[in-house]
Amino acid sequence: MMLTIALILFFTNPLDAASVNIYKSYKNYKVLEVLGDESSLRNFVTMMTSRYAVPFYQLTKGKVEILVAPEWTPTLDKIMEFENLNVNVLIEDYSKIINEEKLSLNRKLGFSWTAYHDVNDIYKYLEDVNKAHSDWTEVIVGGESYEGRKIQGIRINTLTGDENKPVIFIESGIHAREWITPATTTYFINQLVTSNNPNITALRDQFDWRIFPSVNPDGYQFSYYSDRMWRKTRSLSPNGCIGADPNRNWDYNWLKHGASNNPCDYQTYGGSKPFSEVETKTLSAYIASIENLQAYVAFHSDAQMLLLPYSDSTTHVDNYDDLVTVGKTSLNYGRAVNGKVYRGPATAAEILYKASGGSMDWVRDALGTPLVFTYELRGTYFHWPAYRIPEQGEEVTQMLLGLVTEAKNLGYF
Ligand SMILES: *[C@@H]1O[C@H](CO)[C@@H](O)[C@H](O)[C@H]1NC(C)=O
Ligand SMILES: [Zn+2]
Repeated sequence: MMLTIALILFFTNPLDAASVNIYKSYKNYKVLEVLGDESSLRNFVTMMTSRYAVPFYQLTKGKVEILVAPEWTPTLDKIMEFENLNVNVLIEDYSKIINEEKLSLNRKLGFSWTAYHDVNDIYKYLEDVNKAHSDWTEVIVGGESYEGRKIQGIRINTLTGDENKPVIFIESGIHAREWITPATTTYFINQLVTSNNPNITALRDQFDWRIFPSVNPDGYQFSYYSDRMWRKTRSLSPNGCIGADPNRNWDYNWLKHGASNNPCDYQTYGGSKPFSEVETKTLSAYIASIENLQAYVAFHSDAQMLLLPYSDSTTHVDNYDDLVTVGKTSLNYGRAVNGKVYRGPATAAEILYKASGGSMDWVRDALGTPLVFTYELRGTYFHWPAYRIPEQGEEVTQMLLGLVTEAKNLGYF
């Protein structure tokens, strides 16, 4: 009976427009760590996700981390007992984390790296950078979104007399709730355009940069104003559920691993077909149109890892050893900033979980781009205090400097 009511509510009232301005509180939602054997954990995840719109779970070796609503406790307890699972509470009240972040949502002081900004402010920042450096920057459009936004980025290509510099593409914010990624990406843009450090000006001048802080602008805006845990796009499925995972929607081994075919899945619905989402369809066409694309870098959070292609395979690409060498140097440069150790470089299948249909893998497979990397930045269930954005911004800047330095040593540029 309860289940039927829950399902009816879920299917008839899927995050409708009326709720857009009400920020979902996550009051008394807990983050749990559930321990048990592989098949019990799988059963647990299947039972929970088929009953509820679970906002976050991650199944790795020997455990599931999961965000649960207080009203799910009776069902949860029954499943745990039945499947013989153990549980630890990692976070008692997820809303406290969100509230801490919201205190710093004050944007009155203008664009900064001590607050999180919405997509309009991020786009305005890109326009301001362009106004300040109109000779060698350009606001670029890499695609469009379901709700009619542009996927706006910036091209930074200083006047060095070289018409045909290698292109480095930076993709950020494909997962809406990973707020630290647009923030560190604009931090990096600011470094490129304002730093006097000769290492950074050289980094800027050698390349034709195409940098997109928020490639899922609808999702990000929804996460910013309505539901902090939103990850997907905002497209409407025929059954009334909303959104597909834009990093499971690219045309490479689509839906093979780590993706759901259920449009109501909160996290990893792969879409109705490869490139069903206008964001991935238009962005992939834009990327394919770039001549001389030498490096593709995607930012996610918060597994604190460096991932190499292919995410669903332990078989390695032909220049894998080079990617490892470049990746290690990149991580060493990053570690020199704050002493933080990232796992990898390795494929996601080796150190995280198998996932198909991601952007990096498509770029590598379809376009043959030699240098492709996915950085998983740091955080606690997608949270990172706003006042500490520069800490990761500086780390990212150095990681990119390390990447370029080692790739150059190996003869890539
Ligand atoms: C530039 O990079 C070199 C090599 O990594 C380093 O030794 C030097 O300290 C850097 N210079 C500045 C100003 O950061
Ligand atoms: Zn992600």
